[in-house]
Amino acid sequence: MRIYNVAIDGPAGAGKSTIAKKAAAALRFVYIDTGAMYRAMAIYFLDHGIDKDDEKKISEACKDIDIEIKYDAGNVQRVFLERVDVTDRLRTQEVGDMASAVSVYKDVRKNLVALQRRLAESQNVIMDGRDIASVVLPNAEVKIYLTAGAKIRAQRRYDELVAKGIECSFDAVLHEIEERDWRDMHRENSPLVRVPEATLIDSSDMTIDEVAQKVIDLVKEEMAKEV
Ligand code: DC
Repeated sequence: MRIYNVAIDGPAGAGKSTIAKKAAAALRFVYIDTGAMYRAMAIYFLDHGIDKDDEKKISEACKDIDIEIKYDAGNVQRVFLERVDVTDRLRTQEVGDMASAVSVYKDVRKNLVALQRRLAESQNVIMDGRDIASVVLPNAEVKIYLTAGAKIRAQRRYDELVAKGIECSFDAVLHEIEERDWRDMHRENSPLVRVPEATLIDSSDMTIDEVAQKVIDLVKEEMAKEV
């Protein structure tokens, strides 16, 4: 049986995880959220009071940090840091900012990339992140670059926060998105890039279902080539 790897890259707030989750469920592929792994690393540094600019301490700590991925009964990815399930702590602003800041370091990326490759080796996966097509799975059968305008991504994030009862200003959310885009695209190690062979999907004027369907169609098209 052939193994299919699907890589989805794109900036923060483009809807990668929502789309990847839906498409994976429809295709019966395993969804792998690599951002969650960087966020788990970030939790480690926050919990240990390690400064985001202290590369020496961060590199030192990376040697021992234990991150594991498991799937619960509903097939939802759970992330374990030092054997503790930290999944419910991953999605805060503080953790996202720290993850973006420390993901610039080579040592932070090294073990996570190895873990991601291992997960994709033996099963059909849809993996989302920033460097999946360019670094982690350069031989992925399907590569997608999913984006949307910065204002639209900020509006989505703002609506999400408001729905959760979190007070914030739209301008602050937009500023944070633009800052994170810049950092993710301009870092030296594995920056966010669109590889030339990736299919570009701009979700600015598309619904979640439309984007998910497009991804499903691309994968099915690829699988049909084999028969
Ligand atoms: O997709 P996310 O917001 O959960 O990712 C959090 C941060 O982790 C993001 O700002 C950059 C980093 N990241 C990365 O460098 N490489 C990946 N493959 C995934 C995420």
